[in-house]
Amino acid sequence: MNSTLSVAILSGKGGVGKTNITLNLAYALYQAGFKALLMDCDMGLANLDVLLGITPEGNIQNALLGDRTLEEVLFPVEPGLDVLPAASGVPEMNDLKPELRDLLLERLKPVLGRYDYLFMDLGAGISETVQTFAALAATRIVIITPEPTSLTDSYALLKVLNNRFGLRDFMILVNQTTSAREAQGAFEKLHGACRHFLHFEPVLLGHTRFDKKLPEAVCRQQSLLRYAPGCPAAQDFQALATRLQKIRLSMVDWLAQREVLQLVQ
Ligand SMILES: Nc1ncnc2c1ncn2[C@@H]1O[C@H](COP(=O)(O)OP(=O)(O)OP(=O)(O)O)[C@@H](O)[C@H]1O
Ligand SMILES: [Mg+2]
Repeated sequence: MNSTLSVAILSGKGGVGKTNITLNLAYALYQAGFKALLMDCDMGLANLDVLLGITPEGNIQNALLGDRTLEEVLFPVEPGLDVLPAASGVPEMNDLKPELRDLLLERLKPVLGRYDYLFMDLGAGISETVQTFAALAATRIVIITPEPTSLTDSYALLKVLNNRFGLRDFMILVNQTTSAREAQGAFEKLHGACRHFLHFEPVLLGHTRFDKKLPEAVCRQQSLLRYAPGCPAAQDFQALATRLQKIRLSMVDWLAQREVLQLVQ
């Protein structure tokens, strides 16, 4: 019976913090004793490996289009925290066709059951790959910032996913905020537009504060939780991880009836 929660990390606008959030949420859950797989699904500009300062020998493309097995290309970062790296600039992966998607699902199937969480770090925007992974995941976290451009681009992304797949359940994480109040304000604008024009209501997962320690951690090629465990954004990631674990527990019955990755009907 499945108990792995698959989470697609999305954003309309690029550079809002998806990769860092994916990494640090997974890291916080690992530190809390959970097992997580971080899958780099940004096949255009893969960079989870760079953020972690690792140089994997193989990647997901080798396991699908080459001669490596999926097991061979999994990179253990910590005991219970693995990365499935991607290579940049492989056009087949950036425009994922159904045949390749099905091959990926078949190869992943024997592996995913060993994790509590599967986090998928996606590229920005609405490429076919982004849409496919968003639709395969059990749940979706959309990263926004308080900037108006981030809000309009996120709305466009939600609209596309709703129109094409009928998806209605989205959790919103507001990044680079100065306060909970600012986060709430940004969320309410997106929520209002979705309710009014698309007739569904995204929920607020939480927020992460702007923290100068984060770019420092990026330059050191370490997760923030390792580089500066007590800093404000690290505390936010820990709070978000606790919330996500509660959400996972509330979903166990539903998760048991589905595959870890399964296309919406
Ligand atoms: N909470 C934060 N506080 C301070 N800086 C941040 C924060 N979140 C993100 N950043 C900055 O934004 C940069 C981009 O973050 P990241 O690479 O995670 O974004 P992304 O959404 O994955 O980008 P892309 O769309 O290109 O994949 C980081 O290198 C960091 O400098
Ligand atoms: Mg990224």
